[in-house]
Amino acid sequence: MWLVTECVQLFYIIVAVVEGRGLARGEVGMASIDLKNPEVILSQFADNTTYAKVITKLKILTPLEIIMSNTACDAGNTTKLFSLITEHFKNVTFTTVQRRYFNETKGLEYIEQLCASEFSTIFMEVQSKYYCLAAAAALLKYVEFIQNSVYAPKSLKVRFQGSEKTAMIDSSSAQNLELVINNRDSRNGHTLFGVLNYTKTPGGSRRLRSNILEPLVDAETINMRLDCVQELLQDEELFFSLQSVISKFLDTEQLLSVLVQIPKQDTVKTAESKITNLIYLKHTLELVEPLKAALSSCNTPLLKAYYNSLEDTRFGTILEKITTVINDDTRYTKGCLSMRTQKCYAVKPNINEFLDIARRTYTEIVDDIAGMITQLAEKYSLPMKTSFSSARGFFIQMNADCATLPNGQLPSEFTKITKMKNTYSFTSADLIKMNERCQESLREIYHMTYLVVCKLLNEIYEHIHCLYKLSDIVSMLDMLLSFAHACTLSDYVRPEFTDTLAIKQGWHPILEKIAVEKPVSNNTYLTEGNNFVIITGPNMSGKSTYLKQIALCQIMAQIGSYVPAEYCSFRIAEQIFTRIGMDDDIETNASTFMKEMKEITYIIQNANDKSLIIIDELGRGTSAEEGIGICYAACEYLLNLKAFTLFATHFLELCHIDALYPNVENHHFEVQHVRSSAGNKEKIAYTYTLSRGYTEEKNYGLKAAEVSSLPSSVILDAKEITNRITKQILQHRQKSTPEMMKQRAVYHLAMRLVQTARNSRLDPDSLRIYLKGLKKKYEASCPAPGQNDEQQ
Ligand SMILES: *[C@@H]1O[C@H](CO)[C@@H](O)[C@H](O)[C@H]1NC(C)=O
Ligand SMILES: *[C@@H]1O[C@H](CO)[C@@H](O)[C@H](O)[C@H]1NC(C)=O
Ligand SMILES: *[C@@H]1O[C@H](CO)[C@@H](O)[C@H](O)[C@H]1NC(C)=O
Ligand SMILES: *[C@@H]1O[C@H](CO)[C@@H](O)[C@H](O)[C@H]1NC(C)=O
Ligand SMILES: *[C@@H]1O[C@H](CO)[C@@H](O)[C@H](O)[C@H]1NC(C)=O
Ligand SMILES: *[C@@H]1O[C@H](CO)[C@@H](O)[C@H](O)[C@H]1NC(C)=O
Ligand SMILES: *[C@@H]1O[C@H](CO)[C@@H](O)[C@H](O)[C@H]1NC(C)=O
Ligand SMILES: *[C@@H]1O[C@H](CO)[C@@H](O)[C@H](O)[C@H]1NC(C)=O
Repeated sequence: MWLVTECVQLFYIIVAVVEGRGLARGEVGMASIDLKNPEVILSQFADNTTYAKVITKLKILTPLEIIMSNTACDAGNTTKLFSLITEHFKNVTFTTVQRRYFNETKGLEYIEQLCASEFSTIFMEVQSKYYCLAAAAALLKYVEFIQNSVYAPKSLKVRFQGSEKTAMIDSSSAQNLELVINNRDSRNGHTLFGVLNYTKTPGGSRRLRSNILEPLVDAETINMRLDCVQELLQDEELFFSLQSVISKFLDTEQLLSVLVQIPKQDTVKTAESKITNLIYLKHTLELVEPLKAALSSCNTPLLKAYYNSLEDTRFGTILEKITTVINDDTRYTKGCLSMRTQKCYAVKPNINEFLDIARRTYTEIVDDIAGMITQLAEKYSLPMKTSFSSARGFFIQMNADCATLPNGQLPSEFTKITKMKNTYSFTSADLIKMNERCQESLREIYHMTYLVVCKLLNEIYEHIHCLYKLSDIVSMLDMLLSFAHACTLSDYVRPEFTDTLAIKQGWHPILEKIAVEKPVSNNTYLTEGNNFVIITGPNMSGKSTYLKQIALCQIMAQIGSYVPAEYCSFRIAEQIFTRIGMDDDIETNASTFMKEMKEITYIIQNANDKSLIIIDELGRGTSAEEGIGICYAACEYLLNLKAFTLFATHFLELCHIDALYPNVENHHFEVQHVRSSAGNKEKIAYTYTLSRGYTEEKNYGLKAAEVSSLPSSVILDAKEITNRITKQILQHRQKSTPEMMKQRAVYHLAMRLVQTARNSRLDPDSLRIYLKGLKKKYEASCPAPGQNDEQQ
């Protein structure tokens, strides 16, 4: 393989690929390394069943070897992902290793060991990305093995690469924002996922989850989804008829994955499960026509496209083949006995003579059991009934008060007695024997049915890929219906996409579900020329909630959902970063500080002009002087980006940064002082409303200290120090005022003009009046002429 071409000498890339299981199916983790370049690239993303992203990514990487888990391609039992990759990368060497090498814990250990310290912010990003960590473990183990050497500690560059065409949200931001997991109780649904999840199918749930973690960045696609949601909201009949069909679908992806697996041995269990799956398949295909009917009157392009996809003749072809051997009225039912009956009688009569005989035997035994129990009931004059559970088979059940029984006991012929309240469950030696005979005839039936089913499945395999399309459509429709559903319960609004972040009376979607009263709504406005907002206010005044609310609204908009606001417009964010302080935890100073610094470093290294950055309190884990210093430094860096940044802080000194940077805007949360009647101490009342300008309540930290029980001498000292710092900053500020004011005015005029030109929907006359107004504003905000002429 070293002889192939020259370029082999330039790089030798090995990639490990692993796919999640269960709810995380479709979640793919990849790790790659170039043997010629000590850089490990990790990625993890959700893909649909066409695995287009994985293939694209692999194409970009151009590996020479691909490693996958042996479970992906056990003899005759290959996953869709494995067959697609082997198909697309014919020249690539494939190696399979045991699944246990894909060990995420080990992966994290490897990275800890091997990653050079300058790249260590990778931890933040991948900590909870289990699949790429698992892939990294297998990859690094394999490389050690083939190279017969190990990498030196802290020698590798390790980097995370999000998937293309989706917004990146790092794992700590996802956690801060409680996107899919609630921080207090991982089982409760107070998350963005919980707020939006009205999905009816497992596939819809998975899709919603992966969308929330990786929102779209393409306005056209988002608007196509929004068009659908709008149509669903406007057309109630469409909404309800679609929802009713969608809710009948089972887990189509799961079904597909078991259908394409061929078991290594035939057991009664595998036979039974194949029969069950065939019934599920029939059930699923029978829903295609109702789904088409529900979609037939729709107008939006996406829904129309789905309708057209469903015109695929393969659905009908498969169903026809199925109905040649399977009874028309065989269907998926709930309840284990009725499902068992469905399986027994699935295959049409007269297809297999022995099957018909076995079924007659089975029916006779079941009738005998019922007859026997009736006789027993008569014999003892007790209200006995036939019952069934998959664990016990047939057994006897009876509702009776203990006192009505002779001697307060059941007759001695009954065994395995259990009692729940007044319900007795029991069996008898005869009944156990008959159950055994029943099982035996069932095994026969399943075996013969299985032979028929296998023959049928062989005939339909070639058409079965149309189900990938169906499962995609179903999960997508389910998610869109879920958005519409959420919208009908709260007054959400359709977002627009422009170059401005403007939210009018937006509120926190999760808080709305928890709080008794509707949370206080508020406005947000960021533009290119005003892309940095500093928010001040004491803690508990609602800063964190306000900041999270903005990020959540942004994410909702970018997945195609409506948004909790009166009006909103977003600039599409390619990345969303948050740094949100946990509750003030004085005990863990040091670790808080480390965490803060890691998070801010990560943001600074990765943010770009198209990011949305939310920082809530920075520099808490250290002294005030240092804290201010760090905040200043971070702000100054971020101010040079065109990213939209919202920066909440309790350091009022920071507000004055707006004198130096025209693109800074100050907001504060209002606080009212209430003199409590007892004593002359003041109490702070929070209003949870946001106002322009920085907080009037200067030194609220000191005020809060006063309210608390610090010695007054300490407070006096602190006040003096604060006054000195504030004065310095103000002096510095005043020195540069006249020129800066003019610059600011010019800057704002320019920015308004650009915006007006870009976004205006005004007619020319109105525009002229508007511009005249702007000019006046500009003249008013300029210092009187002469004052700064000499400087020019
Ligand atoms: C695979 O290798 C063959 C010959 O070695 C070459 O002709 C072909 O272009 C290669 N295909 C790809 C996709 O690299
Ligand atoms: C994964 O690796 C960790 C640490 O090396 C080990 O403790 C654990 O047993 C491994 N898990 C499996 C399933 O092998
Ligand atoms: C989503 O909501 C549905 C009910 O609408 C529920 O059955 C399902 O379990 C939820 N999914 C998850 C993953 O919580
Ligand atoms: C392959 O089939 C076996 C049963 O024969 C099953 O346990 C295993 O999970 C299957 N592999 C995959 C990747 O689904
Ligand atoms: C699957 O995703 C790819 C790209 O992400 C897209 O091109 C393709 O249309 C999707 N397939 C379906 C059926 O939605
Ligand atoms: C925040 O919301 C309150 C209550 O709705 C409102 O009075 C206040 O004006 C809002 N602040 C801003 C800046 O919009
Ligand atoms: C924030 O509030 C908590 C309790 O309300 C208080 O203990 C803490 O000292 C406050 N922190 C600051 C920096 O004001
Ligand atoms: C917490 O930080 C303060 C201020 O820097 C310091 O005085 C104190 O000793 C620190 N506490 C701990 C437990 O590290």
